[in-house]
Amino acid sequence: MVATQKISIQQVAASRLPDIDFDNIPFGKVYTDHMFMADFHHGAWQNLRIMPYGYIPMSPASPAIHYGQSIFEGMKAFKNERNEALVFRALDNWSRLNRSAERMCLPEVPEEIFMEGLQTLIDLDRAWIPNAPGSSLYIRPFLFSADEYIGIRPSENFTFMIILSPVGPYYSTPVKVRIETHYTRAVKGGTGYAKAGGNYGGAIYPAKLAQDQGYHQLIWTDGVEHKYVEESGTMNVMFVKNNTLLTPALNDSILAGITRDSVIQLARYWNMAVEERRISVDELVAGLRDKTITEAFGAGTAATIAHIELIGHEGTDYYLPPIEQRVFSNNVYRALDELKRGQAPDPFGWIYKM
Ligand code: COI
Repeated sequence: MVATQKISIQQVAASRLPDIDFDNIPFGKVYTDHMFMADFHHGAWQNLRIMPYGYIPMSPASPAIHYGQSIFEGMKAFKNERNEALVFRALDNWSRLNRSAERMCLPEVPEEIFMEGLQTLIDLDRAWIPNAPGSSLYIRPFLFSADEYIGIRPSENFTFMIILSPVGPYYSTPVKVRIETHYTRAVKGGTGYAKAGGNYGGAIYPAKLAQDQGYHQLIWTDGVEHKYVEESGTMNVMFVKNNTLLTPALNDSILAGITRDSVIQLARYWNMAVEERRISVDELVAGLRDKTITEAFGAGTAATIAHIELIGHEGTDYYLPPIEQRVFSNNVYRALDELKRGQAPDPFGWIYKM
């Protein structure tokens, strides 16, 4: 990594930390004292800075607002016994950010800006990393157009930022999901594989319809025939069928989840059979009916390993076995949690000590 430009630092006068109730942190509502920002102007990244967390000035004509030219990442930091910050798979998030950037016509963020910006921010706000089981420091890097232009064209000015948020669990109970066969999240050739803001914005209304029916989330299906399982919007979906870990193969309408990849790598490390392939809704429903599917869960940074309690389809709710019986998903949850907190060895080199 090449040493980058100097990061200027403006610290808060007084930390908000004493006001935070770390025993009750909701997901995504509390932010640390500082944030990192960098501007892309005249073809180069510049003005790398840390500022007090707060509102940002932005043109009302920004293509980020009008056309959703905006992408993001999600990762987490934990504390080990020696009070060191452990960031999980940061470089994988950095490279996915740049894959999303290419698709959304945004500039690449160099590794050194991403990693040094993160390191400087963590150095200032490390006291905000929670210790309580189930909690962590959620890291949200994001990149958007900062042009002032309401026509459609590739932008020339951009902003990259990182904000930090101490969080509790995203889902506090096992999730109820419904298979979506009307609305579409993403299609072949679209932006589904990118972590583009609009993918999430467009999913809110269909998810709300499901929430009104008592579900937490949807399982999205392919946008052409609505016959094949894709992902869940907030997480990838995985199943255990006949002792094999089964998950939809990646394509350009599914986000390449880093937790998904970690689960697959762990399963293979444990010599479990893994199948990444097309899974039809018919196969899923048949497996739920005949009980060959014994576990279902979501995998995501925010969601971690989220047990699926039931899957709704065409008016019927198919219940999965009780959580205590789910050997693989309980083991993988525990193994990942211990690895991320530095309580277990890291044979994969996933942890960055910061
Ligand atoms: C994440 O898991 O980090 C995400 O970005 C999902 C988001 C819905 C919170």
